[in-house]
Amino acid sequence: MELTKEQQSMLDGEQGEACRQSMEILCALGKIYGAAGMVPITSAQVAGVSYKTIGEAGLEYLQDAASLGAKVRIPTFLNPAGMDREQWQALKVPPAFAKKQLEILSAFSKMGISSTCTCTPYLVGIRPKLGEHIAWSESSAIAFANSVLGARTNREGGPSALAAAICGFTPNYGLHLDENRVANLLVKVDVELKGTSDFGAMGAYIGEAAKGKVPAFLGVKGASEDRLKSLGASMAAWGSAAIYFMKGVTPEWNVVQGAEEITFGAKELSATREKMGGDGKPDIIAIGCPHASLAEIEEVAARVKGKKLATKLWVCTARKTKEAADKAGFTRVIEEAGGNVVADTCMVVCPLEEMGIKHAACNSGKAAKYLTNMFKRKVVYGDVEDIVCE
Ligand code: F3S
Repeated sequence: MELTKEQQSMLDGEQGEACRQSMEILCALGKIYGAAGMVPITSAQVAGVSYKTIGEAGLEYLQDAASLGAKVRIPTFLNPAGMDREQWQALKVPPAFAKKQLEILSAFSKMGISSTCTCTPYLVGIRPKLGEHIAWSESSAIAFANSVLGARTNREGGPSALAAAICGFTPNYGLHLDENRVANLLVKVDVELKGTSDFGAMGAYIGEAAKGKVPAFLGVKGASEDRLKSLGASMAAWGSAAIYFMKGVTPEWNVVQGAEEITFGAKELSATREKMGGDGKPDIIAIGCPHASLAEIEEVAARVKGKKLATKLWVCTARKTKEAADKAGFTRVIEEAGGNVVADTCMVVCPLEEMGIKHAACNSGKAAKYLTNMFKRKVVYGDVEDIVCE
């Protein structure tokens, strides 16, 4: 792989040991994937922030990097952590967990990484433009950046995104290159998608059916940004999609000649919805996967205004979005109904089991998948109007 003088000096250790180790990771990745060189990036998003997901080994890795003097040289943001940094006590997060979580955040902060703690950085002003190279590592954010914004990122892991942030470069392969940003599966959508949960269900179906192929959707109506974030999150969770195309919505449209074609219709929609959740009484209603936009918080506030909820309600969001919701009065309305607008974390990366949650209601295909498959919780799946009841 060809390195510039600056990149070679990083690899030779002339810019510190942390930078040397990071460049070594990037070169190893570049060699594996056949990159000709590195490409400069404008931002990095680092996943692997919750103590629940990275544990003691992850904490030690980050503390070691910080003690070697690792410093990021481009704007770098964090994925959700395991708790709301301000409300963790009120939300009954175990203190031992909170202590470890704060140590993780402190290690990141020593490296110069901003504690945004969100999977929707693009909703809080971090919106890379068409063609911009970035290194992001949260699967739903990656799908949104590639597909809706037209920015370019591979599906990074936490350590490779951190290494890219420390060096300011990433190996130039995969979705950074034009030739790989091409769909080879045409999806004809032949059913009306009524809400966010239908987009999540379509994402689940196509995520599984694509089997590594890149989908391009035809015939989708009502694809708002909130619904697209749900679609991409679900596709990435049920499959491994890092990019998709949608006629008339996404900024790129490249489909290979003779691409395989499949149809997503009413039959596929209802069968998928059925397998995504059951019924029963949930312990928690969890909205905001990916993190809720202000409009989604407003929708929940309108739904619960003047009511008293019998079930715990969390609306998970970025701290900056929560501040806007506080200002707009949505947080107060939700709190008066007995719910919480929760920042910095989500229902999947918080210590749900330790908090006694066994059964959750959600409108997210990604949360439905993780809560059932990985954490063995029961799930009720539906839109806000179906699952947020008195
Ligand atoms: Fe975000 Fe958590 Fe869902 S990180 S995409 S809210 S699982």
